[in-house]
Amino acid sequence: MKEDQKRLAGTAAAQKVKDGMTVSLGTGSTAYYVVMELARRVKEEGLSIRCVSTSEATAKIAMENGIEILNLDDVKHIDIALDGVDEIQPDFRSIKGGGGALLREKIAAGLSDEVWWVMDASKPVEVLGAFPLPVEVVTYGLDHIREKLESLGYRPTLRMKDGVPFVTDQGNRILDLHLPEGVHPFDVAEKILLWPGVVETGCFAPICRGIFIGKDDGVEVRENPAPVRYF
Ligand code: 5RP
Repeated sequence: MKEDQKRLAGTAAAQKVKDGMTVSLGTGSTAYYVVMELARRVKEEGLSIRCVSTSEATAKIAMENGIEILNLDDVKHIDIALDGVDEIQPDFRSIKGGGGALLREKIAAGLSDEVWWVMDASKPVEVLGAFPLPVEVVTYGLDHIREKLESLGYRPTLRMKDGVPFVTDQGNRILDLHLPEGVHPFDVAEKILLWPGVVETGCFAPICRGIFIGKDDGVEVRENPAPVRYF
């Protein structure tokens, strides 16, 4: 079952965290299990860690479970980031942002010495693109940006939550692009990131050190031989 796969992956990845580390906590239903396992280790094993969060939602869960959350600028560096993905292809390029936290996730992961993605078995794909590409945009001129994306055939939809437009933790909106088959999200990202008003996309370079894939019979760990860095 998918939920068990997420739990297995998240719990296994949380063992990467060692005493004294500063950890970036990811967002989403798989990262949730990372947070819960770290909370357990803090409580039961006396694990001493400092944490930053990639979203207000994760910060709330962490704090409710006894993990203190620091502001990103109050930590000198991040040792490790553990987070989920929406799709990942064999060269470790991935799409994130299904939970709307792509901007903070990219900044925090980019600043981390080591990044590990956690996922259920449905996330690895041969080529990215079936999952809609999240694009974070400012509200000023949003309809115009949407029209420009539409005219290129990228079929943007404004992400909604509870009947109103979804607002990111940075106060922006998300346009999800339903790209035509054969159009690679990274090619689209390269183009639209130059546009004024586009803040970030869910395309993540192969920054991860590796991935934890939860499966029905256990956890597969795949290491990335050549992680790249944003900074
Ligand atoms: C949030 C994310 C999530 O990590 C991604 O959507 C995966 O979530 P889940 O583990 O719930 O499938 O990028 O912005």
